[in-house]
Amino acid sequence: MKILITGGAGYIGSHTTIEIIQNTDWEVISIDNYSNSSQGTYDRIQNITGKSIKYYNLDLKDLQATEQVFKENTDIQGIIHFAAFKAVGESVENPLMYYDNNINSLNNILKCQAKFDIPNLIFSSSCSVYGNIDQLPVTENSQLAKAESPYAYTKQIGEIMVDDFIKVNPNLKAISLRYFNPVGAHVSGLNGELSTTTPNNLVPFITQTAIGKLDCLTVFGDDYNTKDGTCIRDYIHVSDIANAHVLALQYLLNNPPHQRHEIINLGTGVGVSVLETINAFEKVSGVKLNYTIGERRAGDVAAIYANNEKAKKILNWTSKISLDNMMLSAWKWEQFLAKN
Ligand code: UD1
Repeated sequence: MKILITGGAGYIGSHTTIEIIQNTDWEVISIDNYSNSSQGTYDRIQNITGKSIKYYNLDLKDLQATEQVFKENTDIQGIIHFAAFKAVGESVENPLMYYDNNINSLNNILKCQAKFDIPNLIFSSSCSVYGNIDQLPVTENSQLAKAESPYAYTKQIGEIMVDDFIKVNPNLKAISLRYFNPVGAHVSGLNGELSTTTPNNLVPFITQTAIGKLDCLTVFGDDYNTKDGTCIRDYIHVSDIANAHVLALQYLLNNPPHQRHEIINLGTGVGVSVLETINAFEKVSGVKLNYTIGERRAGDVAAIYANNEKAKKILNWTSKISLDNMMLSAWKWEQFLAKN
């Protein structure tokens, strides 16, 4: 059985590919255009798993080229659609780039799903769809607030597109997975996020500061109404996220889902502050981090973490990797990059 992964050379796509190779007999085919990744990821996947995968270098906005992949691979049973831009700040600066890429790529994937009758789809969504929300932890039934960025809008719109599409295609099923804050690297330290730009996210910022690539980390505000004044997030290890994709696809393959489009939160359910993250990093790495407290970052929500009961119940999934091991794996990966 073949599974198509879009964005297979990317951060979550590559870790999901590793999980699939190690835990199933599915054959993975990847599409990526390396806009925020590189072809070298496939070598790292091979180093970890001992297996190579088939891959295509193409832009999903090119419908003809995308259709060609489905024509060449006739027995695809599922698509996991990761490929998208994901930097919140960049999306505010350049909204059309986000609407153009994220919406058109998904549109083409859905067209192919219908045309080639691919029964199952997993869509990468994000907790950013919730916007500024007061009721914590957030459940999938929480009313979505206004999106705080064009990036978040593309995920809200993406979920609606999948929903409307599934309604009129009775043979097809989908799950949208709302990721909270995916962090860390493969526990071997041999694969992790390889962003082509300066990091926006906290954990790569921490590790790059620790290794000396960046001078200093700024903590964006310590005057929030939270346990230590810094923002609260639900950090979750990337391999726990990856594992949930395997379970989600198995669920679609094996059970007629309750609804043909399920929406499921993926978080640990635990809210962790920025300072707690830094402390965990310092503890496991033995490195004293150079950081200062700065201004609040525009668009940040004070606190958000998941209610993950639905993932536990429906997918039989739980997160297994602790905050310390999230930080340790991220640090191993940063050191691997420095050596290579
Ligand atoms: C946001 C989205 C998330 C999305 C991600 C994509 C929300 C609630 N979350 O994550 O769904 O997948 O973007 O990029 O919208 N911080 C610092 N200093 C830094 C960097 C970050 O203090 O140099 C703090 C931030 O203020 C925040 C926390 O660290 O409190 C995490 O930030 P980040 O890693 O950028 O993720 P989110 O903005 O939470």
